[in-house]
Amino acid sequence: MNRTKDSSTSLRIAIQKSGRLTDKTVDLLHGIGIDFDNYKRNLMVKTRNFDVELLLLRDDDIPEYVQDGVCDLGFVGANVTRETQADVTVLRGLNYGNCRLSLAAPKSADIRTADDFDGKKVATSYPNLTRDFFGNKGIDVQIVEISGAVEIAPQLEVADAIVDLVSTGGTLRANGLIELETIMESETELIRTNHELSPGKKELIERFMVRMDGHLQAGKSRYMMLNAPKGSVDEIKSIIPSMKSPTIVPLAEDEMVAIHTVVPFNELWLIMEKLKEAGASDIVILPIESMIL
Ligand code: PRP
Ligand code: ZN
Repeated sequence: MNRTKDSSTSLRIAIQKSGRLTDKTVDLLHGIGIDFDNYKRNLMVKTRNFDVELLLLRDDDIPEYVQDGVCDLGFVGANVTRETQADVTVLRGLNYGNCRLSLAAPKSADIRTADDFDGKKVATSYPNLTRDFFGNKGIDVQIVEISGAVEIAPQLEVADAIVDLVSTGGTLRANGLIELETIMESETELIRTNHELSPGKKELIERFMVRMDGHLQAGKSRYMMLNAPKGSVDEIKSIIPSMKSPTIVPLAEDEMVAIHTVVPFNELWLIMEKLKEAGASDIVILPIESMIL
């Protein structure tokens, strides 16, 4: 079983070493059957059952590594990719690690709108996005670039206000800052290098994407089983939009059938209510581990 790997053909994927995206990205990779461990200690991790190497990096470095072709794929916040203006392709928005880049100012200051920033010093780790935002509005600010702990800049009198990431808002509150306006909403994205890849790597990316899309779809779907009178089948089909060809099994009891299908989780309760009205009974819902579409 010990197949040797040609490391030049391994897909290289960049993920955040430690931070808000790490756990969910690791869960996602495990969820699509990519096995690895020791990612907390190593900067590069070989996976056991898919031709993938993981590179554990600071999130801020990921877009450039992917742009330069050092990594083929990367999981990173949209905020970082936009800020670095990296030349990469966004393959998917992944709806985790959500946060926003916002203007914030001390409670005690009289800065309440973007216009109040005119002539002020603004501390941020996002100088490009901040410059664009105020530039587009014709507001003149002096940007103080800081790489971390931006929230304490006003207390240190290094700046009058800040532009920073907000998730729960806890950090702002703890530092006596009020969130004023959002510059951009952000989520984790899967990005791909624009460098030309070998046929082998392209194929690996395709397989990776099929698994990932199936896994994400499974998370948003539930398996549904129900019993219904034969006469209600047409109405039931019309209630479940995604149901192209449901499995319909005759039951021992005359004139009754069992129906099995997959339904979108976000419409689950509405669908169940309508199904009950249409005569369905014994509705059972099960989670789906994975699916390939
Ligand atoms: C961001 C930001 C704040 C914090 C806000 O840092 O710089 O410190 O999160 O989160 P909260 O609103 O939930 O308190 P992040 O963890 O993304 O680290 P990084 O920007 O240094 O990579
Ligand atoms: Zn960072």
